[in-house]
Amino acid sequence: MVPLEEAVRRALQHTRGAYAIVVLCSDQPDRIVAVRQISPLVIGLGEGETLLASDIPALLSYTRDVLIIEDGEMAVITARGATVQRLDGAAVAKEPMRITWDAEMAEKGGYPHFMLKEIHEQPRALQETMMGRLDSPGAPELDGVSYTSEFVRGLRKLWITACGTAYHAGLVGRWVIEHWAQIPVEPELASELRYRHPLIDPNAMAVAISQSGETADTLAAAREARKRGARLAAITNVVGSTLSREADDVLYVRAGPEIAVASSKAYITMLVALQMLALDLGLRRGTMATARAAQIISALKALPGKAQEVLLREGEVESLAGRLADRGHMFFIGRGLDYAVAQEGSLKLKEISYLHSEALAAGELKHGTLALVTPGVPVFALVTQRHVYEKTLSNIQEVKARGGLVIAVAYDSDTEITKHAEVVLRIPDTDDDLAPVLSIIPLQLFAYYVARERGNDIDQPRNLAKSVTVE
Ligand code: AGP
Repeated sequence: MVPLEEAVRRALQHTRGAYAIVVLCSDQPDRIVAVRQISPLVIGLGEGETLLASDIPALLSYTRDVLIIEDGEMAVITARGATVQRLDGAAVAKEPMRITWDAEMAEKGGYPHFMLKEIHEQPRALQETMMGRLDSPGAPELDGVSYTSEFVRGLRKLWITACGTAYHAGLVGRWVIEHWAQIPVEPELASELRYRHPLIDPNAMAVAISQSGETADTLAAAREARKRGARLAAITNVVGSTLSREADDVLYVRAGPEIAVASSKAYITMLVALQMLALDLGLRRGTMATARAAQIISALKALPGKAQEVLLREGEVESLAGRLADRGHMFFIGRGLDYAVAQEGSLKLKEISYLHSEALAAGELKHGTLALVTPGVPVFALVTQRHVYEKTLSNIQEVKARGGLVIAVAYDSDTEITKHAEVVLRIPDTDDDLAPVLSIIPLQLFAYYVARERGNDIDQPRNLAKSVTVE
């Protein structure tokens, strides 16, 4: 009989993607074999018992001694305890780790705040959002979405509705849907849409976006759209939420629980969900060539690794935050998708640092707000959109001419920008349409470190709630 470890090893040659697998065999009942790839796996060493879990908090009421299983490692659990080996069979010597955190800290996985933990979870969250949905090279397979190609071809308009950060994700969604699927898209704040007389009809689809799926205004706007005959698609994180139950199509973002009031991983996964939706709509309408779709799919799959690279540059953002934490006002500018990200970067800063900030379409600066740019005022300029790069550079010049401090968010390959900006926060190059997934990360980290510098309650900022279930 093939030993269970060997059978699992052979089976794994046929797997790909992220997983944590626990295998039992009725013919070899003396052992349990567990392996992980990206998804977490932890062993608890208890009194006369050995436990397996996906995270440390789940083990804390049984034991404080744990073994963390790393990617590509296999744990074998028997009555004598646990051993760890690599997938090639070589033994791995692992010292148990004694957990001394209290339960709340353990839930934070050792991070001082949930927000920082959630920012760091983004590469994995992105993997989860895409898992099983981009496996065939030609088209996404969106579980939970059941509209027909005939319906999609007949669509005249799309409405996107949401609040706060989810609305900012919707602005990115508008761009990619219009670009790839050639359908006019109207994004509208849910608290506005529900009280206007939107010209929504049965040839339209409404896309409601909500992390919680319980935001009162978003639910009301989604119901209004449905009442007017639109098909309702939901993009949400919470399985079984009210929004998911009421929608015709549901695309879960699979970000995992988001505890911090300031949304980070939910936003980034909403972006990818919207990009996959845009891809699907474009392919069904014939406006997206399959070769271009394959390019986008491969760029999407590279995002988790690139997001991880951005996180490795955290130290630069932290020291910038230390320099700027006492400033009164800051501005965020950009064009197109960069403007959408600027709005989210500004909201993030406001809600946890309590500093005043404002986001502007870069071309609008000279129509009024430039009057507020005085020497030393920080202006974040996002420059990832190559088709408007020169235009944004000229807006940066307008800021510099008034003595503003320009901090650019730019691609690694952009050598020109160092001539124009005092500070450059770098992100790896990607397809411009996907850039928001990476360019928001330095801005999230900046907001976090400014708030920390100012001693604020980061996870529960004043006056705000995680889920706004009142109007
Ligand atoms: C994000 O940082 C905010 N806390 C807030 O804008 C939030 O995105 C908004 O309240 C919408 O919440 P939802 O996604 O759960 O609907």
